[in-house]
Amino acid sequence: MSLYELFKAKGPSGFGYGSTAEEVTVGVSLAGKTILVTGCNSGLGEETMRVLALRGARIVGTARTLEKATAATTALHAAPGGVLPLACELSDPGSVLACVESVKRAGLALDAIICNAGIMMLPKLETAHGYELQFLTNHIGHFLLVTGLLEQLTETGRVVMLSSAAHERAPREGIQFDNLDGAKGYGSIAAYGQSKLANLLFAKELSRRFAGTGKTANAVHPGVINTNLGRHVNRALWAVFTLVGKLALKSVPQGAATQVYVAVSPALAGVSGEYFADCNVAKSRADANDAALAKKLWDRSEAIAAELRSAQG
Ligand SMILES: NC(=O)c1ccc[n+]([C@@H]2O[C@H](COP(=O)([O-])OP(=O)(O)OC[C@H]3O[C@@H](n4cnc5c(N)ncnc54)[C@H](OP(=O)(O)O)[C@@H]3O)[C@@H](O)[C@H]2O)c1
Repeated sequence: MSLYELFKAKGPSGFGYGSTAEEVTVGVSLAGKTILVTGCNSGLGEETMRVLALRGARIVGTARTLEKATAATTALHAAPGGVLPLACELSDPGSVLACVESVKRAGLALDAIICNAGIMMLPKLETAHGYELQFLTNHIGHFLLVTGLLEQLTETGRVVMLSSAAHERAPREGIQFDNLDGAKGYGSIAAYGQSKLANLLFAKELSRRFAGTGKTANAVHPGVINTNLGRHVNRALWAVFTLVGKLALKSVPQGAATQVYVAVSPALAGVSGEYFADCNVAKSRADANDAALAKKLWDRSEAIAAELRSAQG
C-alpha cells in the first residue's frame, strides 16, 4: 500500500484510488462476453486482460505483433471464455485495418473495446505517415480501429479510451490542427498531452454519436503507475518519479481497475460521455467538454483515416 492511498477515500461508486481490477469485478460474470484490449502484452493492458478472462470473458488481445499477442495470451488459453491474439500495430494503418478485418472475419460481437495501448513523451519528434507519432499511435490508430469495428459492437457495447490526467498538459489551444506533424514545434509533454486530450475528445464525440442507442463511450485516467510507459522518459526524471512512486504510485492491479470498472460494471449501464479516475466520474480540462472541438477533431481524424486508407491501395 502506498502512503498516498491511506489518505484517499472511496468515491460514490464504492471504489477508489486503492481498488484493484479484481475488486471492482467481484461478483461480475462476464461469461458470454467478448472484449478487445489493445496493448495486451504489458502493464495495465496485461492486467486488464487477465482479470476480464478471470471473470469469464472471451478476450481479443492485440499487440504490435502476433508473436507478442500470442505470448501475452498463452496463459489464458485455458480460460473459460477463450482468447484470440491479434496483431495491431497502431502506427501502421495496414496493421490496424488487418486487425479490423480479422475481427470481422471471425464474426465477433464485441461487448467492449478497451483502447489501452499507448506511448508517452518521446524525447525527440518522431513521425510516421506524416503525423507526430504519439498523435498517430494513441489517437489515429485507435480511431481507425474503433470506427472500423463499430458494426461489431453489441447493442450495449462499451468503448473505453485510455486518456490521462496528462491531457491537461496539451497545448493551450487544445489540438494543434496546423501542427499535427510537429514541424512547427515539438514538446514531449505537450505532444503526449495532446494525444491524451484527443483520446478524451474522441470518447466524448463517439458518445454523442451513440445517443439514442445502448452503446457507450467513456474515457479514463488510470492513475500513475510504474509500467513500461516510462521507457522514453529522461532517466533522471524517471528516477525521481519512481522514488516518489514508492510513496504515491498505484500498483498495476490498482491502475487497471478504472478501465475494467468502466468496461464491465453493471452499475455503469448507459453511462456515457464521462471521464473517470479512481473508478469514479472525475473533472477534466474544460475544453475536453467542448463539443465543437471534439467534432472538429472527429472530422479531421476521418479525413486522415481516409487518406491513410487510400494510401494502403
Ligand atoms: N502508467 C501510467 O502511469 C499511465 C498514466 C496515465 C495514462 N496511462 C495510459 O495507460 C495506457 C497503458 O499504459 P501502461 O502504463 O500499461 O504502459 P505500457 O506498459 O508501456 O503498455 C503500453 C502498451 O501499449 C503498446 N503499444 C505501444 N505502442 C504501440 C503501437 N504503436 N501499436 C500497438 N501497441 C502499442 C505496448 O506495446 P509494446 O510493449 O510492444 O511496446 C504495450 O502493450 C496508455 O494508453 C497510457 O497512456 C498510463
